[in-house]
Parts: sequence; structure tokens; C-alpha cells
Amino acid sequence: MKNLFMAGSNIYLRAVEPADAPILAACNNDPDVRISFFTHTPTNVATQAKRIESFYQPGADYIPFVICLKDSGQGIGVTALHRVDLVSRAAVFSVCISDPAHWGKGHGGEATSLMLKYSFEILNLHRVQLHVWAGNSAGIKAYERAGFVREGLLREAMVHNGEYCDFLVMGILEAEWRAAHAAR
Ligand SMILES: CC(C)(COP(=O)(O)OP(=O)(O)OC[C@H]1O[C@@H](n2cnc3c(N)ncnc32)[C@H](O)[C@@H]1OP(=O)(O)O)[C@@H](O)C(=O)NCCC(=O)NCCS
Repeated sequence: MKNLFMAGSNIYLRAVEPADAPILAACNNDPDVRISFFTHTPTNVATQAKRIESFYQPGADYIPFVICLKDSGQGIGVTALHRVDLVSRAAVFSVCISDPAHWGKGHGGEATSLMLKYSFEILNLHRVQLHVWAGNSAGIKAYERAGFVREGLLREAMVHNGEYCDFLVMGILEAEWRAAHAAR
């Protein structure tokens, strides 16, 4: 497990390297994947490689990881905390399994759980939140299973193929996460 940062049962998280640029690009380009992010412009591998060089500067409020399979080491997606605010002790979570062949195998859920462990046990955050398209059933299930609760609905927040789509706001507090872990 090259450059491992945190490990789960079937996946591990590690820092993003310039060679991972195709994984980041796929999250924005693949039609089946980008529909969940409502991205409307393509990106290329060179742009992503340059972006990766700027990651992990001291004080950075964006902390991304590559999600890798434990058995092969293959990178299958990206998960991140955005807008990490060490005063409010809050952050925004995202996850993307960039190759649909790896969907539905529990990897997104496991990555979500690992990122909450990282948020509360290592970064000492108080709250993690996310926005998810209300039609993203797999995402919502993965988040609820990890402990996120539905906090609100952003009505007709974004448009896709001429249709306005609602977004859920979901969040989890440190105390809720600790209580769920103590109960397990
Ligand atoms: C959303 C995503 C991260 C989920 O990860 P995943 O590895 O596919 O999901 P998991 O296998 O962990 O399954 C999560 C849950 O959703 C269910 N699920 C999986 N695919 C599903 C589908 N197509 N429809 C409904 N439920 C589904 C699983 O059964 C599981 O439910 P359970 O916990 O009750 O067993 C992944 O599909 C993905 O990256 N999609 C594209 C990008 C994206 O949508 N990112 C999130 C944006 S907010």
C-alpha cells in the first residue's frame, strides 16, 4: 500500500500525486460521473496535474486523498475535505469513485466512513457537511450509513438537461459520530 495515510477493510487513502491526474479528470469528464457534480466544462489531464502540484501547502483548506483498492493498489477515485475551517472546526465533504465499474461495491461508503474518522479523530473537527443531488440515491445511502443526517433541502438549486434539481444538505456533528462509534 504505497504512501498509505489511512486504511479501511477494502480500501485505503493516500495523498494525490501528479500521476493521479487522470482520476481527477475522469470525475469531471465522464458523463455518468459528472452528472452528480453538475459540471458543464471539460478538463484535461495536464490542467489537473498542475492543480495537484498546488495541493498540501501549509494552511491549505482543501485536503484531498486518492481512494485505492487494498488488494491491487489501483486508484479508483478521490475524496476530500473542502473549506476546512479550524476556527469553526467545520468542513465540507466530497467523494467520487471515478470509474463506474467500481460503484456499488461499498467503496464509496467506506471512503465516507474513513473521512469522518479523519475529520473527528485527527483534525478534531466539530461538524462535517455536504450537498448532494436529491436523485443521487447511492450517495445519500452511503452518507446516511456513515452517520450523516438530512438537514435541509435546497429547492431547484441546479439545472440539468433543462430541469431544475433539488439538493439535500446533510451534516454530522462530532458528538453524533462519537455516540454512533461508542454504540458499535
Ligand atoms: C455516490 C458514490 C460515492 C457511492 O459509492 P458506491 O461505492 O457506489 O456506493 P456503496 O457501494 O458504498 O453503496 C452505498 C449504498 O448505496 C446503495 N446503492 C449503490 N448503488 C445504488 C444505486 N444505483 N441506486 C440506489 N442505491 C444504490 C448500496 O446498496 C449502499 O446501500 P446500503 O448502505 O444500504 O447497503 C459513487 O457511486 C460515486 O462516486 N458516484 C459518482 C460521483 C458521485 O455521485 N459523488 C457524490 C456526489 S455528492
